[in-house]
Amino acid sequence: MTSRWLGRCPECGTWNSLTEEAVPQVRPAVGASGSRNTVSAPVGPVATIGGDSEQRISSGLHEMDRVLGGGIVPGSLVLIGGDPGIGKSTLLTQIAHRVAEASPSPTLYVTGEESPRQVRLRCERLGTLAQGLLVAGATDLGTILHHIQSCRPVLAVVDSIQTTYDGTLETAPGTVSQLRQTAHALAGVARELGTAVFLIGHVTKEGVLAGPRVLEHMVDTVLYFEGDRHQSYRVLRAVKNRFGPTDELGLFEMHDDGLHEVENASAALLAERRPDFSGSAVTATLEGTRPLLVEVQALVTRSFLTSPRRVVNGFDYNRANMIMAVLEKRMGLRLGEQDVFLNVAGGVRVIEPAADLAVALAIASSYRDTPLPADAVVVGEVGLGGEVRSVVHIERRLREAQRQGFSRALVPKSSRVAGRDGMGTVRVATVKDAIDTALIRPGEDGQCEQ
Ligand code: TYD
Ligand code: MG
Repeated sequence: MTSRWLGRCPECGTWNSLTEEAVPQVRPAVGASGSRNTVSAPVGPVATIGGDSEQRISSGLHEMDRVLGGGIVPGSLVLIGGDPGIGKSTLLTQIAHRVAEASPSPTLYVTGEESPRQVRLRCERLGTLAQGLLVAGATDLGTILHHIQSCRPVLAVVDSIQTTYDGTLETAPGTVSQLRQTAHALAGVARELGTAVFLIGHVTKEGVLAGPRVLEHMVDTVLYFEGDRHQSYRVLRAVKNRFGPTDELGLFEMHDDGLHEVENASAALLAERRPDFSGSAVTATLEGTRPLLVEVQALVTRSFLTSPRRVVNGFDYNRANMIMAVLEKRMGLRLGEQDVFLNVAGGVRVIEPAADLAVALAIASSYRDTPLPADAVVVGEVGLGGEVRSVVHIERRLREAQRQGFSRALVPKSSRVAGRDGMGTVRVATVKDAIDTALIRPGEDGQCEQ
């Protein structure tokens, strides 16, 4: 907070991220002997406090339940963020329908973005016209709270946080104080009635929930729904979860009749792979408990620019640059004269460093125009010295690779993997070892320890 105008945030360094706010009235403080300490909050042994596991409600979608850590927690406030048009309203409409069908209590969909009529049209298209799914068009916080209190739904969706405003505040919808007030009031009513409240929020281009991160601290769970709008896959990720893990991932596919869960995610993501092309490497990432095979693609081509292009989709840009620097310095790849395009197929984002080696090999494969063996999967973190570092849960990753028909794996030298039938492993200490082993010319074959 600052009392004067600033163009740049002194804390996080971003430009134009500060917004002007009126100073709210300060409530009188209540001291230790004040008159407000009469509320009795029970004290008891931790072991006697009930768990929440038996109370969770299924969203009707396994992928969603898993990301939430086993289902929806009654009374919780969940924020789901994502780019406009990615499918947030679709996902929440489907969930509100399924929960309404399975529960004696209704569910409530509050729409401020669209008219109730548009919501009805979407429901027709999705086949989600459950009797217990109630729809209200509202943007005023007081009205929304009133609806929740009078309908007592088991689940309420507020679409969206940016259109909701508290008329008693003087600021415009979408400002910090509005967002904070809305989240605070909805968290209160959620806890009071045991209603699970889902707030939909839009994400800005930079990937930050529009409206500052303050919201993330006020809710129990933050989910991101992401993917490439021009492709059909959508990934649901928990970035904060008071009731479960944050590394779980759910995969959906957008169809004409809404979102479908993708059960065999690895097979779906690899379906269009062309293993005979150079520049393609498959890695086994681990998102939460679920191993996922993804294809990393690279295209390295001579640059005609003084500053060659680096285009990275689905992987951390800085990390990709680091790997290119390692290839340049330790392997002598002259990437300084090349444009490099890097892409994770299917529109998914890979966060784990375990995908580093696949990025390195995809780039080297395209650079040399030599494909990697079609049946090989590559796992390992790359260090600045060009060393391949160990990754966690290698066994689980290899099991998934084998299940998808891969018969050899390049793994870090230090990893302890038990031999398994039908899966040969090559343990590599450096990126150079990996390239020497994997980039075989046609007619040669790699050496495997069976
Ligand atoms: P929507 O849920 O409205 O996105 P958001 O709420 O995140 O802005 O979905 C938007 C896109 O999804 C829209 O371009 C149309 C497409 N869509 C389908 O392909 N199939 C469907 O069944 C529905 C409802 C939407
Ligand atoms: Mg929407």
